[in-house]
Amino acid sequence: MGRDKCSPYRRAGVETCPVRDGTLPLQGPGRDGRVLILGLETSCDETAAAVVENGRRILSNLVSSQVEIHARFGGVVPEIASRCHLELINSLIEQALQEAGFSMSQLSAIAVSYGPGLVGALLVGVSTAKALSYAIRRPLIAVNHLEAHLYSNLLTVTDIKFPAVGLLVSGGHTSLVSIPQPGKITLLGQTRDDAAGEAFDKVARVLGLGYPGGPAIDTLAAGGEPAAIEFPRAYLGAESRFDFSFSGVKSAVINYIHNRKQRQEPVNLQDLAASFQAAVVEVLVEKTVLAAREKEAATVLLEGGVAANSALRREMGRRLREERPGIALYYPPPELCTDNAAMVAAVAYPQFLAQSFAPLSLNAIPYLEL
Ligand code: KG4
Ligand code: ZN
Repeated sequence: MGRDKCSPYRRAGVETCPVRDGTLPLQGPGRDGRVLILGLETSCDETAAAVVENGRRILSNLVSSQVEIHARFGGVVPEIASRCHLELINSLIEQALQEAGFSMSQLSAIAVSYGPGLVGALLVGVSTAKALSYAIRRPLIAVNHLEAHLYSNLLTVTDIKFPAVGLLVSGGHTSLVSIPQPGKITLLGQTRDDAAGEAFDKVARVLGLGYPGGPAIDTLAAGGEPAAIEFPRAYLGAESRFDFSFSGVKSAVINYIHNRKQRQEPVNLQDLAASFQAAVVEVLVEKTVLAAREKEAATVLLEGGVAANSALRREMGRRLREERPGIALYYPPPELCTDNAAMVAAVAYPQFLAQSFAPLSLNAIPYLEL
């Protein structure tokens, strides 16, 4: 399978800098105060490589999405994902370096997501990073993919105030965390069944909207009435007030469609999408607002693919303004919400400064937690 069979590279990130500012050439890693980290990301169905300077400045950020390849199967096929990563990773790295305007030997370190994710997919990134680290004699930095998502806001915001509360909502994860100070993350709650993005994807599949379903439902919902159909909201008990469950709302949507079909009644797809989205968003927002209140947070951070959802952004802003005026809400631009390697290189920077390096025996950990 050639490179052109995977969808074409798309450039992501807030800033790219193919030509630097006259201080060339770099004499060596860190000699002029610059730390250049190559980030690699292959945990699911996006192959990504990025070069980030000093944990903040994105010099290149390339993502090759396999979405079109997996779309015909209605979800990610792990074997195909691994094979696609393998075919793309080397040329992506070459292009990321070229765009950044640096050569391999000028890198300070190689950072890679080593979990959580699909084991075969993760292994492509981990093996590539280890080989590069060995070949160019630069340190290897192991990055937790979830931590990278949580810190992706650091790429665009300079003065995040702590304590913060973070909501990480992606296709594989729904986690609410407390971040009392930079570098310290405590898990408050997570999903007990489907992740928020997974619920969007499964409902979209039933509606025939293709994969990934989140963006399609978001667009469809814009023309619908969120209060048209009352779908269940799982708040769970006091003990589990920060946990989530989305399998109930997903089943309710599927049942609703079957019932209408059985009675030969039409389904208003826009109203259905808007009502489903409203049910998911309300739970995400209310639990985050509750956590922000309990933790007396100065900041709320949204991350992960579902953080691109327009209703989630709007409702989170509205409810926080009502409940905690003055609190800051940040979410990355859409290209940094979904999987990318800039977030991997960014979160690796403090690890580089602390000289927290991984051994060449590093392995992929599919069920790695925060
Ligand atoms: O973070 P991500 O790229 O990959 C994982 O690590 O899972 O998230 C992908 C998920 C998919 O489930 C996709 O449907 C969802 O994010 N997503 C959205 C939107 N854009 C992407 N969900 C709701 N609304 C969106 N606008
Ligand atoms: Zn992710």
